Amino acid sequence: MLHLRVSMDKFLVRGGNPLRGKVEISGAKNSALPCLAATLLTAETVTLHNVPYVKDLITQRRLLEDLGATVLTPELRTHKVNAGNVQIFEAPYELVKTMRASVLALGPLLARFGQAKVSLPGGCAIGTRPIDLHLKAFEQLGATVSLEAGDVVARAPKGRLVGNTIDFEKVTVTGTENVMMAASLANGKSTINNAAEEPEIEDLAELLNKMGARIKGAGTSVIEIEGVDALGGAEHTIIPDRIETGTFIVAAAITNGEIEIKSCMPEHLTAVIKKLREVGVEIEELNQSTLLVRCCPGGLTSKDMMTEPHPNFPTDMQAQYMALMTQAEGTSTITETIFENRFMHASELIRMGADIQISGNHAVVKGKTRLMGAPIIASDLRASASLVLAALCAEGETTIDRVYHIDRGYETIVRKFRSLGADITRITESLGTGSAAQAGEAAK
Ligand code: EPZ
Repeated sequence: MLHLRVSMDKFLVRGGNPLRGKVEISGAKNSALPCLAATLLTAETVTLHNVPYVKDLITQRRLLEDLGATVLTPELRTHKVNAGNVQIFEAPYELVKTMRASVLALGPLLARFGQAKVSLPGGCAIGTRPIDLHLKAFEQLGATVSLEAGDVVARAPKGRLVGNTIDFEKVTVTGTENVMMAASLANGKSTINNAAEEPEIEDLAELLNKMGARIKGAGTSVIEIEGVDALGGAEHTIIPDRIETGTFIVAAAITNGEIEIKSCMPEHLTAVIKKLREVGVEIEELNQSTLLVRCCPGGLTSKDMMTEPHPNFPTDMQAQYMALMTQAEGTSTITETIFENRFMHASELIRMGADIQISGNHAVVKGKTRLMGAPIIASDLRASASLVLAALCAEGETTIDRVYHIDRGYETIVRKFRSLGADITRITESLGTGSAAQAGEAAK
């Protein structure tokens, strides 16, 4: 009987060390996820480089293999995928419930095989996160979509989708990605209006065009797709993670350190860089892929911020920005316009001494407050990053529980912070043994 070790890892952080040194940014989780899904669109091999070694991509790989694709990793961050033998068109609940991005299998399966069955993803900590806009778009491409015992069942009655104009009533990132993939193999032309403009959309379009798709306008609000009969193999390198980049910019500022951030793409986070410069963070672009970040000598000043779709300030940086504003002089109002429940990190920051008032989708942060170490709990991926940042600048010791959230989207985060001088350790508790062993990142 295989004894699965179920571990509820924690981080132990002793704050106060200014972070100094160099850090390499990993591939973008939110580009690698749709790009891996896109490999289902062809029977030929697609090779993806710079795939981040994070939990969500391990899950996405498992999904592809469960559908019948073969995935080889000649090295940790290179995935060679061949979906030539896919005979299963169903993404099961136990996978989808752990990672909503499994819905990205819908578009490719429907487009290539004329059928797809994906468990309807539940909500998650940050909101209900429906996929109604994805499903409505598939129907506009000629699919029939029904809900059967918690599963979305989609079929192309004539075996092939038909191009159409899709007007998204709300900007949806994975909705845009799903439709772009589905329309690539549809019969005729499709236009997506009010499309998401994130860099990850452009990266996916670049991969699809390398595979033979005919997509124009990715990265703008209007995307045009000329459907083709089949797509082929390709090789592609995933863009760097702009949210990890932003997280390390804040890390340098909040610990009053100096970090050289390498292998990043500053033009993917211009709104974040602009806002952080406004509050006093010194950000120098050494070249097209390197930033040198330090806090300004005069300290930080509070500035209001509102999250909006790209190219504006991203919701995935809201929690990190809130942590930083606790260290800025003055009052700042943070408005979250994308998700309905994305302030859960606030209560944990308050436990550490922050002064934050939440009312609806506004958080009013009064700074500068001394943060004291405390036992806190991570609730979602980006919230956990903000709690690490707060712990790094707090006085004393912080334990952060449920860090499996952070492992979903940040590659070897403990090793990266330790290499910058942070006093952070991963504590792995295996259920059943009762023992708590301190495991460094090297073990991963
Ligand atoms: C993507 O999620 C990202 N995930 C999220 O990153 C990111 O926060 C989000 O975009 C916004 O930028 C991936 O790319 C895998 P949406 P997605 O569809 O596509 C509503 C992280 O931390 N909506 O753009 O699921 C929805 O409820 C994650 O890496 C509908 O109402 O987000 C939300 O309020 C968290 N109906 C808003 O639109 C739909 O059919 C934007 O959602 C779809 C979305």
